[in-house]
Amino acid sequence: MENKTILITGGAGFIGSHTVRLFVNNFPGCKIINIDKLTYAGNLENLADIEGKDNYYFIRGDITDSDLLDKLFERFNFDGIIHLAAESHVDRSISGPDEFVKTNIIGTVSLLNSALKFWKNNFESKLFYHISTDEVFGTLGKDGYFTEKTPYNPRSPYSASKASSDHLVRAYHYTYGLPVVISNCSNNYGPNQFPEKLIPLAINNIRNNKPVPVYGRGENVRDWLYVMDHAAAISLLYQKGSPGETYNVGGGNEWKNIDLIKLLCRIMDKKLDREEGESEKLITFVKDRAGHDMRYAIDFSKIKNRLGWEPSVDFSQGLEMTVDWYLENESWLKRVCSGEYQEYYNQQYGKKD
Ligand code: NAD
Ligand code: DAU
Repeated sequence: MENKTILITGGAGFIGSHTVRLFVNNFPGCKIINIDKLTYAGNLENLADIEGKDNYYFIRGDITDSDLLDKLFERFNFDGIIHLAAESHVDRSISGPDEFVKTNIIGTVSLLNSALKFWKNNFESKLFYHISTDEVFGTLGKDGYFTEKTPYNPRSPYSASKASSDHLVRAYHYTYGLPVVISNCSNNYGPNQFPEKLIPLAINNIRNNKPVPVYGRGENVRDWLYVMDHAAAISLLYQKGSPGETYNVGGGNEWKNIDLIKLLCRIMDKKLDREEGESEKLITFVKDRAGHDMRYAIDFSKIKNRLGWEPSVDFSQGLEMTVDWYLENESWLKRVCSGEYQEYYNQQYGKKD
């Protein structure tokens, strides 16, 4: 890919930072502009290694700010948008849905409006690529998989806001002809994930000998994908996805939460030179999440058969690489855990920790 100017939103977050790095390094002939509000979840440290690159620009800004978006479109004349900025944590959406409505719905519409305004007379070789989640499909029982045709049935304020944004992106395609691609991905894990999410939260607590909170009985199932495999799928879909199409992206890697946490405990025992079984003692069953979806599982045969993408990182290897990264980046973890996060943690899990 040469001479493209691409706006990536939410590039200082978890998946966004891996995606920005991949594009900046793999496409030196393209200009990558990262817009991020730097909420509690955004962290420029995630991108320190590419900060000085000639083809990379960072703009601190809010995607609900239409004037700013218009100015950026005027200044950079974007060829494409890869839209990742969002409020992304289900538990936070339960205690405070408003921010999710603002960023995930209004923010997406603001981006769509700017794209439409600036591209209207020439959609050729333009693309609005919207990154979404498998949570829009709701919950599965013991069997079956989410396909691109599964009806939407979001059950948390987070997933409802993402579903709403997906519908709007699709509506702009059908109504105005905007060239769009949407992908719905399963749970990501890997370096730089904010420690409010299950895997980094558990790593952090195990290391600090704190209780590891497991919701309900830990029977809920998630389908885990290494974050760099997701970034690779995003790169492929940006280049080869067909406008108007949706693609499911997943790990083919289902784990009950409790089994995953036990595996993590075994890895941590080894890494921390603890006796086998020591970390498992930290597992603490806590009150279940409200409206907790039981199972997610993705059928990713469309992207596999049409574009040749499939996950490349084996789960136990990926988990070990993730643990290593968190153990080697203690200062990163300490910094993001200070301030606002501590207040959130106390509210979510009780002050005793
Ligand atoms: P994250 O919370 O780590 O990062 C979100 C980023 O968006 C942060 O850098 C934050 O500062 C930025 N942001 C938030 N509000 C903003 C606003 N109003 N304007 C500009 N920037 C703003 O999220 P993530 O886990 O990296 O997820 C990225 C995207 O991928 C989201 O759209 C999410 O719905 C989707 N997704 C995530 C997963 C997952 O497992 N994490 C799976 C599938 C899809
Ligand atoms: O499926 C894709 C989604 O995956 C993304 O769209 C979301 O942005 C991302 O946050 C993630 O959502 P989940 O709710 O599945 O992820 P989380 O890490 O919060 O929780 C994973 C599972 O672990 C879920 O069943 C809830 C459970 N859990 C979570 C936390 C934080 C616990 O048992 N204890 C915890 O403390």
